[in-house]
Formats: sequence, C-alpha cells, structure tokens
Amino acid sequence: MSLWRYLRLFRKDVLSAQPARLYRAWMAEFRTPFFRSYLCNQPALVDLVLRQRPDDFPKSDRVREGLKPLLGNSVFVTNGETWKRQRRIIDPAFEGGRLRDVFPAMLEAGQGTVSRLATLADGQPREIEAHTSHAAADVIFRTLFSIPIEHSVAAQVFDAFREHQRTQPVVNLGALLPLPRWFPRLRRRRTLRTAAVIRRLIAELTTARMAEIEAGTAPDDLATKIMTTPDPVSGACFEPDEMVDQVAIFFLAGHETSASALAWALYMLALYPEWQDKVAHEASEIFNGAWPDFADVGRLRVSRDCFRETLRLYPPVPMMVREAACPEHFRDRDVPRGSQIVLSSWHLHRHERLWTRPDEFDPDRFETGNGRSCLREAYIPFSAGQRVCTGAGFAMIEGPLLLSMLVRSYRFETVATRPPMPVAHLTVRGQDGIWLRISPR
Ligand code: HEM
Repeated sequence: MSLWRYLRLFRKDVLSAQPARLYRAWMAEFRTPFFRSYLCNQPALVDLVLRQRPDDFPKSDRVREGLKPLLGNSVFVTNGETWKRQRRIIDPAFEGGRLRDVFPAMLEAGQGTVSRLATLADGQPREIEAHTSHAAADVIFRTLFSIPIEHSVAAQVFDAFREHQRTQPVVNLGALLPLPRWFPRLRRRRTLRTAAVIRRLIAELTTARMAEIEAGTAPDDLATKIMTTPDPVSGACFEPDEMVDQVAIFFLAGHETSASALAWALYMLALYPEWQDKVAHEASEIFNGAWPDFADVGRLRVSRDCFRETLRLYPPVPMMVREAACPEHFRDRDVPRGSQIVLSSWHLHRHERLWTRPDEFDPDRFETGNGRSCLREAYIPFSAGQRVCTGAGFAMIEGPLLLSMLVRSYRFETVATRPPMPVAHLTVRGQDGIWLRISPR
C-alpha cells in the first residue's frame, strides 16, 4: 500500500486501515520522493528514540506547523533549550503534592457530570463523547483557573474549541506526511479565526490572573503555580504571551485526551458488563455512601486497571512523530537525516509478538508476567522518557475517579445498531461519536 493511500485510510478509520502485517512488524519503511518515514514497533527502537537519545530525535518542525495558530510556542511543540526551560517551570505544578491540592476541583467536576447525566439516564441511546468532553473541559478549567465550565469565558473557550476542531484537518497530516518546505501551506481562514478567538479568551484569563497575583488575591491553583514559578536556572517566570501558549496546550492536551479515554472506557465497560459491575462494586465499597477523598482514589484498583487497559486498546494519541537529527542505522537499514520516525502506540499496544491476546479487553493482564513486561516496554499511552506527558499523573487520577463516580451512579449499555468506529481526529474518537444507553444503577 502506498503511504498516501495508507494515510487516507488512517484518517477514515484507524482500525481497519491498518495492514495486518503492521501488527507483527518490528519496523516498516515508507518511501516517497521527498522523505522517508519509519514506523518503529520494536521495543528497543522505541526505547532508543524516547528514552535513550531523545535529543537526537526532536519533534519535527512540521508538527508545529499545523498547531502553530493555536499553540504558538507551547511546550508541546518546542525543542532544545526552550523546551527544557518550559518543562522546568511547568513540571512542579504537576507533582504529587499539587495533585492532592487540585483534587477537590476534580471531584467537583465529577459531581457536576454525575448531575448532568441524571436527565439522560432513561435508557435511550445517548452520544457520550459530548459529555466526556464537557466533563474533561470542566476538570481543566476548575484545576487550572478555579472556574467551572459554566463560567462565561470558559464556556466561550470550549465552544470556540469545538468550532476549531471542525475546521482542522483530522490527524495532523503535516507531521506524518511532511511536504517539501516550498509547498504552499493552506490554512483555512476559519481555523485561523477560531485559533485567534481561543487565544484572545485565554489572554483575558491570564491577564486577570496576573492582576490577582499582584494584588495577592490569586487562588492557589495550577495557573497561579505555573505563573509564579521561576525557572530554577535563569530565575525568570513565563512572559504573558508564553503563558497563553502553555494554557492553550493544557486545554488542548488535557481535555481532548481525557475525554477520549473516558468515553472509550465507558464503552469498554458497556461491552464487558462483568467488569462494569466490578467497578461499581469497588466504588460502592470505597465511597461508602459519600464522595471519595484523595486517598480513596489510590484504592480504586479495578477502575484504574480498566482505565489502563482502555488506554492500551484506544490510546487517545495513537501516533507520535519525531525527526532523525542525524543519520541512523535501524534494523540493518540506513535511516537518512531528516527521516520521520513514527512511534505508534496504536500498533505497539496491539502488537501480536508482544502481547498475549492483544485485541482482548483484559484489565487483569497487568498482573501477569506478560502484562507486566509489556507495561514496561510496549505501553506508551503517555509517551515515555524526558518528553513524557506532563499530565500523566493528573490523568491517572482524573480517569479512574470519573469512571468510578459515573459507574457508581449509572449503568451503561451498548447500542447494538451503533457500534463506534475509531477514527483519528486530534485524538482517537468514534466516527459518529460513541453511543450508549444510560440508566440509573
Ligand atoms: C488520558 C489522558 C492523556 C493522554 C493519553 C495523554 C497523552 C500524551 C502523549 C502521548 C503526549 C506526547 C505527545 C508527543 O510526544 O507527541 C503528551 C504530551 C503532553 N501532555 Fe498529555 N495526555 C493526557 C492528559 C494530559 C493532561 C491532563 C495534561 C495537562 C493538564 C496533559 C498535558 C500534556 C503536555 C503539556 C504535553 C507536552 C509535553 C512535552 O512535549 O514535553 N496531558 N500527552
């Protein structure tokens, strides 16, 4: 299959587009007149690129191109010293202790979601992704800026973001399929307009927050922490514009991914009702008639395993792309400088030579020898190495918490006539959404 056809299929339908051999291959090479692309599935190669020599495999400039109108110079797209400085400022906000501090805000977002679903719990088919998006956006606004999604600026960002997604080409093809630099870039006017609207709204939030910080009245949330943390090396904090870039990526990376994961997790539990009952039972025991506290979340083992297994089968970020900064030699092949290195969690997580029963939903698998070794070497839903997702710890609290709260209150069932078809939008989504029947438990 040519790369062009492959990418067209990939956009159409992630699952059936994949030639079966990519689930068995250690590496696949795609050649075009302009560039070469290498899909790496061998754990040693993934380890080399992500953990051992990440500086030799930076994010390609082309990744930035598609995202620039919205993200500017955010930590997601920068490289080298700029990226290192940004991570030094951002990382402390996501340490364990801080996650404990933002937990009440997450819980409030979960309570809001449980209340909103009450009117929909009538056994009729309901599209659930819209609600998980709403929930994840609420989590981000409450933890970052101490405002609920109902706040007028938060609601406007959320709406503008949905509009932005509709105007964006689905997968970031610019990254997987680098066009030569002279090739004219077409950006739809609406994409540029919606990106500008989102950035203006975010700038309103950060300007207001800066004034509160100066007045000593700022709430102790993630935005205050990030805006007041100096870089330990230079001593300087983020400039206002830089902060807009970072908030844009927290909103994008933090809400799209969690929304996708939660929607697929609910679908998996609807498909496997015995696991759903186990999650509900665990939540009843641990919540014990009240809402959970931070320590309880660590005890939601079944919920965490179900969420983790969902991230294996439906990794929200199905592929990551890097560029070879110097010539390499992979599996007896010369990899020229500038080649695209594709790390596909979609393939790695379902690889037939690595996982036992790769296509089965089995949350217990991580307890076995095969599951444990694959967890170390073939499981990268949050990436790995120095560029690992900043929000991984945050997401592993948010996901199991919301899953348990929802399943504790409601039963979710599949809609036989509407099985979801996974497609690669910014994250892995259902082509026509994910439809479930909801009823009170
Ligand atoms: C289930 C939820 C999530 C998943 C599966 C996920 C996955 C990922 C992946 C795979 C990357 C690496 C992308 C690449 O290298 O091309 C990434 C990066 C990132 N994520 Fe997440 N993410 C999740 C939630 C979050 C949350 C909640 C936040 C913040 C609140 C967040 C913030 C970021 C940031 C800032 C980066 C860029 C890190 C860097 O390049 O240094 N993510 N995420």
